[in-house]
Amino acid sequence: MPAPENRSGIQRIGVLTGGGDAPGLNAVIRAVVKAAVNCRCEVIGLEDSFDGLIEPNRWRRLTPKDVTGILRIGGTILGTTNRGNPFAYPVGATGGTRDYAARCVEMYRELKLDALVVIGGDGTLSIAHEFHKRGIPLVGVPKTIDNDIVETTNTFGFDTAVSFATEAIDRLHTTAEAHHRIMVVEVMGRYAGWIALYSGIAGGADVILIPEIPYDVEKVADGIRHRDGLGARFSIVVVAEGAKPVGGTVTIAKAARADAAERLGGIGAVVAAQLETLTGKESRSVLLGHLQRGGAPTSFDRILATRFGARAVELLLEGTFGHMVAFHPPDIVSVPLEKIVGRTRNVPPHFDVVRAARAMGISLGD
Ligand code: F6P
Repeated sequence: MPAPENRSGIQRIGVLTGGGDAPGLNAVIRAVVKAAVNCRCEVIGLEDSFDGLIEPNRWRRLTPKDVTGILRIGGTILGTTNRGNPFAYPVGATGGTRDYAARCVEMYRELKLDALVVIGGDGTLSIAHEFHKRGIPLVGVPKTIDNDIVETTNTFGFDTAVSFATEAIDRLHTTAEAHHRIMVVEVMGRYAGWIALYSGIAGGADVILIPEIPYDVEKVADGIRHRDGLGARFSIVVVAEGAKPVGGTVTIAKAARADAAERLGGIGAVVAAQLETLTGKESRSVLLGHLQRGGAPTSFDRILATRFGARAVELLLEGTFGHMVAFHPPDIVSVPLEKIVGRTRNVPPHFDVVRAARAMGISLGD
């Protein structure tokens, strides 16, 4: 198969990973390196997101040998950070910030880079958009376990997180049944309920609480009593970390700072305590946390990540800059970054997957 024509004349591509890690990051890096080298381009890996363009000597050349064996490995060989916005870079311990954007552009030129592949979530892709406006040719690759990036039906990492959460729910089923308990499992997802909805359905949950559908805990308790009346004696409740009661707010583990977004967490324990009081049944909560981001990517995520990485290189070579690769099944397409900046993809309340959950008798707490 002949290599794609290099119409843009790009010869040296920088690649970085930003934001929280997600299984499949290494698969994208590998795909970028292999596809680029196949077209006689050189790849420079930048360490810890845009830190690689702020601090000296935070880069290294990546050859096919450097990416051998990383397809199946979680994390990122380049490192990442979700505190490294070069336009508001944290300095000191007091929450102050500084603008390092000009330094990044300077370093980009010093390293003789012709283009960037920026792999990240909405925050990282917004930063990429700003650098593209300042004249840097680049392509974005959408990453997040949360699956909340607009204009793509899937981000890599999501399938792996859902698979892990599903296995956890399977394991909780047997102990819940044995002890006749309510088991509440809190999953990640920020302000979107994709992980909770998909793992809840796959795991056969009885209740799924998502941010897009505020819940009434009395109705959840009614559903559990109803199940007991039918002889079930145990219930599995999946709660998204961003779920909130009707008229209430999200549960925050750590407040936002100038350089860091608020950290969600704790709603599972709150719901478990309320359900114990309301139903009189013993209730326990489990927080899956960062386990959802670790481990080997599923085959779906490996394939998606590989297609994203290969397509990103194609776009650079054909001279399509300022775009993000996206999955519009069955195709990988490109979408202008300006279309995704500042937007979040939430679960539509009347989405067929929501309706399927209801049809299975799953309570969504409303
Ligand atoms: O965006 C991915 C994610 O794992 C969210 O689901 C979660 O709210 C957040 O990152 C946690 O971030 P951190 O690792 O910084 O605590």
